[in-house]
Order: sequence, then structure tokens, then C-alpha cells
Amino acid sequence: MSPSTTPEARAGALRQQLDQWNHEYYVLDQPSATDAEYDSALRELQQLESEHPELLRADSPTQRVGAAPLPGFSEVRHDMPMLSLENAFDDDELARFHARVVERLGGEEAIDYVCEPKLDGVAVSLLYEEGSLVRGATRGDGTTGEDITLNVRTVRSIPLRLRGEGYPRRLEVRGEIYMLHSSFEALNAAARKRGDRPFVNPRNAAAGSLRQLDPRVTATRPLQMCCYGVGHVEDGVLPDTHEGIMRELAGWGLRVSRDAATVRGLEGCLDYYERLAKRRQELPYDIDGIVYKVNDLAQRERLGFVSRAPRWAIARKFPAQEATTRLLDVEFQVGRTGAITPVARLEPVFVGGVTVSNATLHNFNEIARLDVRVGDLVVVRRAGDVIPQVVSVREKAPAAGAGEVLLPTCCPACQSPVEREEGGAILRCLGGLVCPAQRKAALRHFASRRAMDIDGLGERLVDQMVDSGLVKTVDDLYRLDREQLLSLERMGEKSADNLLAALEASKSTTLARFLFALGVREVGEATARSLAAYFGNWEALAAGDEERLQDVDDVGPIVADHLRQFLDSPSAMAVVAGLREAGVHWPEVDMPGSAAPAGPLAGETWVVTGKLESLTREEAATALQSLGARVSGSVSAKTSVVVAGPGAGSKLARAESLGLTVIDEAALLARLREAGVAV
Ligand code: IVH
Repeated sequence: MSPSTTPEARAGALRQQLDQWNHEYYVLDQPSATDAEYDSALRELQQLESEHPELLRADSPTQRVGAAPLPGFSEVRHDMPMLSLENAFDDDELARFHARVVERLGGEEAIDYVCEPKLDGVAVSLLYEEGSLVRGATRGDGTTGEDITLNVRTVRSIPLRLRGEGYPRRLEVRGEIYMLHSSFEALNAAARKRGDRPFVNPRNAAAGSLRQLDPRVTATRPLQMCCYGVGHVEDGVLPDTHEGIMRELAGWGLRVSRDAATVRGLEGCLDYYERLAKRRQELPYDIDGIVYKVNDLAQRERLGFVSRAPRWAIARKFPAQEATTRLLDVEFQVGRTGAITPVARLEPVFVGGVTVSNATLHNFNEIARLDVRVGDLVVVRRAGDVIPQVVSVREKAPAAGAGEVLLPTCCPACQSPVEREEGGAILRCLGGLVCPAQRKAALRHFASRRAMDIDGLGERLVDQMVDSGLVKTVDDLYRLDREQLLSLERMGEKSADNLLAALEASKSTTLARFLFALGVREVGEATARSLAAYFGNWEALAAGDEERLQDVDDVGPIVADHLRQFLDSPSAMAVVAGLREAGVHWPEVDMPGSAAPAGPLAGETWVVTGKLESLTREEAATALQSLGARVSGSVSAKTSVVVAGPGAGSKLARAESLGLTVIDEAALLARLREAGVAV
């Protein structure tokens, strides 16, 4: 803080900055700050507020998560009832809705409708007074809901304070709280890993998260809010169309649908249905239909309501993403790393727009949890681009015990012994490359588009190559000659030549792709990219010990351990050598992480924490690395120096408890200048 800045002004500036970053990240999906910058500003604000409690405000970004669990939720009476919608299940029903609207409006056909995805989550009401969020409530029975204020406050896309100006003094905003597929999958993967019960679908996950009496639990759940209307409004004027209101809400910092559109007449509605239905599986969230709403508020007024639903809106439902079918069998698939996955073979069923006959059962704990048996009626879910899954048992097969799913006692592909991991959830074949299923999976992964991108090397060919014994490890691919390829079934001369050309072309790659293609456990595309960017070349990576490997973003102790095991395995290294001998190559770069440390700070490990004034932490790290220092994200007994700016928290405390050298920004700048770095 410069001497001229008062704590009050600094707190104000920090709040504004943090709100802006939050808005960019959670509402616009366009982050501009790094996590480190955000954390550092948040810590500085927390520090200021704890030193000057008079500066604390309920809508401060530090106040999202409340401290104590509630004994229960209290009731909220909605000032304006939260209605439901009538449904249309086909085009005819939609046409009848439009005809009714036209008739009631005196025959005018050219009605403008706003079309919005019907989000499959939980309806909520948010009340803002003087721009501050004062209450969040569930819909309940439409008249009375539950007060979930503390929980909605933890949802990052809900502003605690509206942005800009011109909002009514009292404004009730309505919308849906839901969970993105990616968040839902990650949440369930973590639950399965812990042996906890996963959520059946994103809607249940969102509802369950909002029902928590402890807001600290809700705060860990990745919830999202999208607004689709307003309720009670006092002292303020809103635009006279739905479209206009949505634009205002967006301007005040609320998230509104980016997939909404305003169309004209029935034709426009049908056209929007076609377009959205096509995109349904690509959308990152679940929708169960489309909501069509008359855009003009004066027309809405004239249309009015029937019982509990407006006459000016309708929900056109999509085919369900869950369906019931019979489990015919459970088979076991062996993946690239030997993990054996149970796969359900199903009586074909139409779900989420396609016919599904296979679905994943995830792992063996899941089979036990579901207590699923062959012959049971099961619920299958297919949403987004995730693999269809069996989520529950609807009805047990009549003959109890008949179809019990027996766990394999050896690898179904190579009969090697198996091992149970992760609390019994994962069964792994110990056959390694002896196992043809693992070989095939490794080859398919190696050849895949995002790895070595070997055009034309599909599943059927991989199976043949492995079954005939032509290919055992991935480097064998590059030793195949034309004769050998022609010996494979249904392989013509042209295809053989094309495949040889594709193999040749794939030799010129990047380190990131190569690393990903090797299929090291837990090393996905992003991690491979981070490793390549950090080390720049193979030799530096191979020489990195576990600690150094963990300096790379995304690499924790588990990934570092898998990597080290791989790099220390003579057979794996023989494959890498074989690939490089065959001519697989990539541009190599000398990177800070790979350069043999030299310079005045060689051998020292530095940690930079807290907020710096005249340079960013990244700039400080680069300057220190240029002098040969290793810059780490965590403080340990091996740390040489900790640079601590304002707001430094646990790292500073740890450094102090370890008795490490701690310096401030001024001392850092002096050291850098002394060593000849221009800062
Ligand atoms: S408008 C009076 N718009 O669908 C109109 N609802 O059955 C009230 N929903 O409980 C709702 N997306 O939770 C509206 N874009 C959207 C929606 C939407 C999802 C839910 C909402 C409501 C239910 C209506």
C-alpha cells in the first residue's frame, strides 16, 4: 500500500478489482487474472478487513462463505408467486399454443418469442435491495419457499452486489441454479474415489448442494446460476420486453443465457427447436427442453394466466435423457493402464436422442452400491458427450441371486493376476504389455488424433496387428514394412502405402504430443503440455527428480510418482529409444526448467508469496530463475529464501515456523539489481 492510500480506499479498490475478476471468470467465462493474482488480492482484503473491522461489508467478496451451519431453513413467502409452465411434447402442441396466443391477441400472427434453453436445475429467487443481495429462496410450492440465502451467496456467478447503476431499489431476479456436466463428472469421480455415493444427475447434485445446512459444504460444490426473469420490482423501471430486461440483468452483472434468441412466430420457434436439439449433446449443461416466452410485456399482460401457469409461455420438452431398460450382461474391458471396467450390455433403448446398448458401470464399488444383477431393470442416462451410464436399479429381476455379477479373479483378456486398488473400486490387470488388451488400448491411444495422429490406424487394424503378433509395443509400428502390412486381412496396396505415409508423417511431432501418446498413468493432454513447456526437451524431463517434476503445474506427488516409475522402467525406456531411433522427433527447446542451474542463486530454492507492488509474482519468479534459482510454490525446510508481500498467509507462517530467511519486496529488488537484473 502506498502511503497516500487510506485503508478504506485500498479496501474499496480491492473489492472492485475482485468483483471485476469474479464477473469475468464466473459470468463472462473470460478470466483475465491468474489464480495467484486473485488469491493475493483476496488475502490482502481479508487482512485489511481483519485489521479494520469497520471496513467489513456483507457484500464484500471475502464474505461468500458463512461460518456456521444453520439449524434449519426458514420459510420465505414469495411477493409474487413462482409459477410453473405448461408443457408441449410435440410440434402440434406448440402450434396449438401459438394459435391460442394469436387468438387472444386479436389475430396478430407476427408474435415475437424469446426462446431459451430450459435448464434442468433448481429454480431460485434472488432479492436485491439497493443493489445488495439480501435473500435467496427456493421456489417451494410456488407461494412459500425456503430461505437459502447463505447457500446462494456461495455461488460465484451470483453477484453479492449488482454492477453499474439504474437498477430498481428492490429487485427480485429469478433463474435456475444448475451444475455443468464437467463439474458434475468431477464431483462424482471424487465421490466414487472416496467410496461415497455419487449423485444420479446434475439436477440432483445441484438440489442436494442447495439443501445443505452448512454453507461451507455448498461452497465446495461447483454451482452455476443463470437468470431468466424478474419477480417483484419496487422503485424502478424496467424495459418493456423480456429481451430488454435480460440485457439489463446482464449489465448489472447477472448471468443470462447466451443461447437465447428472439424469433418471430411459430416458424421461428420450430426453427430454434431444430437448431438447439442438434446442439443438445454438445451443450455443457443439461436441458430438458426449450422455454418460449412472448417477448412484449404489454402482450403478456393481455394474455394473463391460467391457474398456476402463464398463458404467454410454454415449455417444449425434449426426449428424456434417462430411460429404463434391462441389463443383459456385464462384461469387463481392460484399458491401457490395465484398469478393468465393468460395462453393461443393455437391451437397446432410445435415450437422449440415440439408441444405447452399452453403458459404463464405472467400477466395482459402484456395482456393489447399486446391487445390480443381470436381468434387473436399470435406469440409463445419456447426457452431453459423456459415456452413457447406469445410474440406478428401477426393478430387481424376479429370480433373486440368479444374475449376480461376479468379479473377475484374473484378467479377462490375458488371465494374468489382478490387483484391487483404491478401496476395492479399481481392479487392475498386472500383465502389463503381456496383456493383449492393454497393448491394443495403448496402441489405439498412441495413434489417436490428439496423440501421434496416425491416420488410418483404426481399432480393427490395431486388433489384427496385436493378434498376429506383428506389433507388441508402439515402437514396433515404425518397423513395419509393406509386406507385413499386406499380410494383414483386407489390407490393399493403397491402404498399406497410405498407412506407411501416415506413420512417416507422424514422426514429426511435438514433445507434448509424444508425452501424451506414451500413455503414462495420470498424464493427460494438459499435463503433457505443461511438462513439455516446463522442461522443453526429453533429457531434462527424464533427469527431473520427483520434487522437480512437481514444480510443473498440474503435477502433484501422484503424477510425479507415475512419471518417475515410467522413466525408471527399462522396458519403457527401450520403447522410447526405439521410437527415437525410428525417427520420431520434435523441436527441442532449452527452458528455464531444463537449463542446468547456473548463476549467483544456483542451488537455492525461493518462494514468492503475497502481493508485490512493482512487479508481478511471475515476473519475480522469472527474474530469480534467470539467476539460477529454483522457484517453488511451496515452503519446506529446503527453501532458501521466502519473499513475502502484503497479504502473505500460510506460506509466511510456515516460513517463520521453520525459521527461514524471509525478505520483503524492497530487499528482493535490491538483490536483483545487485545481480544485474533490470527491475
Ligand atoms: S420461466 C412463469 N425460463 O422450468 C415462467 N423457466 O416448469 C416461469 N426453467 O420452475 C419460468 N429454464 O425452474 C423459465 N429459461 C427458463 C427456464 C425455466 C428452466 C424451469 C424453472 C421452472 C420450470 C417451469
